[in-house]
Amino acid sequence: MISNSDPTDLTLSLVSPIVLPSLFKEGTPLKLGIMASGNGSNFEAIAEAIASKQLNARIQVLVYNNPGIKAAARAERWGVAAVLLNHREYKRREDLDAAIVETLRQYEVEWIVMAGWMRIVTPVLIDAFPDRIVNIHPSLLPSFKGVRAVEQALDAGVKITGCTVHLVCPEVDSGLILVQAAVPVLPDDTPETLHSRIQVQEHRILPQALAQLAVGMVRSKRD
Ligand code: GRF
Repeated sequence: MISNSDPTDLTLSLVSPIVLPSLFKEGTPLKLGIMASGNGSNFEAIAEAIASKQLNARIQVLVYNNPGIKAAARAERWGVAAVLLNHREYKRREDLDAAIVETLRQYEVEWIVMAGWMRIVTPVLIDAFPDRIVNIHPSLLPSFKGVRAVEQALDAGVKITGCTVHLVCPEVDSGLILVQAAVPVLPDDTPETLHSRIQVQEHRILPQALAQLAVGMVRSKRD
């Protein structure tokens, strides 16, 4: 069996070398609603980008579905309202999404960021915010859609994977791609080591993609 256990300089140099330009522009901040199911490190990256004036936005609210998650504690630390909508209390996905829409409207959200939201969303949410929902996915789409994307990449034996920020459409992980970053897969990688390397890039490109939206660099067909 042929295996590549010898990382070359070439492999290592593939860590996304792009230096992303600063895109901050004064004006009305983008009103964001963030949806998270777990750790919330991407929430944190967005909050930091706003605080350091790399992104002209305001986090109106965090919606989360699992009680006691770290994302909620992070929101509290940043003084951001956090609303628990526990999916276990809703019979159908559509009912949860209707509650999410109601909450986001209450908080006057314009753009939704799914930052580690681990539930499939329905047209109830997508149609209420058409072309206004951004997702971060831990692979270079269109490869490795769906759950366990990092494991899928390891199983496939790819040498490069990465992360993608894209708009959400009804088909899972298939909407317009906004920004991507490449990450090398190293011979000894486990899902955890690879995921943490991918997350370093996620924390760069998610605020970057939002900054592009904030300055109007990305226009949906509906604008
Ligand atoms: C990220 O890897 C994201 O790509 C995926 O879920 C993870 C969320 O991480 N959709 P965090 O909760 O933001 O730390």
